[in-house]
Amino acid sequence: MNVQNKVVLVTGASKGIGRAIAMGLAAGGAQVAFTYLSSVEKGQALEAELAALGTKAKGYRSDASDFAQAEDLVNQVLADFGRLDAVVNNAGITRDGLLMRMSEQQWDEVIQTNLKSVFNLTKAAIKPMMKAKAGSIVNITSVVGLRGNAGQANYAASKAGIVGFTKSVALELGSRNIRSNAVAPGFIETEMTGALDAKVVEEWANQIPLKRAGKAEDVANAVLFLVSDQSAYITGQVLQVDGGMLT
Ligand SMILES: NC(=O)c1ccc[n+]([C@@H]2O[C@H](COP(=O)([O-])OP(=O)(O)OC[C@H]3O[C@@H](n4cnc5c(N)ncnc54)[C@H](O)[C@@H]3O)[C@@H](O)[C@H]2O)c1
Repeated sequence: MNVQNKVVLVTGASKGIGRAIAMGLAAGGAQVAFTYLSSVEKGQALEAELAALGTKAKGYRSDASDFAQAEDLVNQVLADFGRLDAVVNNAGITRDGLLMRMSEQQWDEVIQTNLKSVFNLTKAAIKPMMKAKAGSIVNITSVVGLRGNAGQANYAASKAGIVGFTKSVALELGSRNIRSNAVAPGFIETEMTGALDAKVVEEWANQIPLKRAGKAEDVANAVLFLVSDQSAYITGQVLQVDGGMLT
């Protein structure tokens, strides 16, 4: 996958899938702008790790769920890097619970962080992309958004919303040479899934034809493809990276 010199903005890169995407991009020679919520020191440490791979990298402490912060972020990235070729909307959270017990706050937090964040950053990013007449937007959804999951009505709704958003943006902006795709990971070993009950994990694992959980790098590889020009004729798609789970 050729991502050499592309300027790519990745949200939520401090750990898990976001970190693997940022590292994969940097290893492929892309210039990486990334966001994080943790301490400035941790952001600087990742910046140094990415730069050590021989490319330009810069971290921004920015809350993806905040509309105004997304606009500031894009302006800062443009000032620092000169352009923006691709955006990877990765930031996400879970606040699980059966619907009967799910609070309004659990619902709102997940929709705001997982779905509104994608609207925020995409809306800000398409301005420079329209001027450049090129761009790739990659949104991280989930197999849960495609098939639902008991105990995750809020998360499933947010991820299904991302699918509809991704396809709509592809239809609206295809004529401007801006592509919009989603990646739907299945069961990937990260802190997010580390918090799950062992029985739930076993049930999920039993449904995977490839008989293993995915790695963050498996998802990163799909994202790199959708960022690269090798996917130049692909838009409006949801690429499942799930070991065949949803087949
Ligand atoms: N792990 C899986 O099995 C799996 C499966 C399907 C989809 N996903 C999706 O992949 C993405 C990454 O998940 P992960 O497993 O790496 O989770 P993770 O919890 O390890 O990492 C999530 C990242 O998002 C960041 N984040 C959270 N809220 C944020 C906000 N408001 N602003 C900016 N950053 C924020 C966190 O700081 C963290 O860096 C998420 O969108 C998640 O829903 C994960």
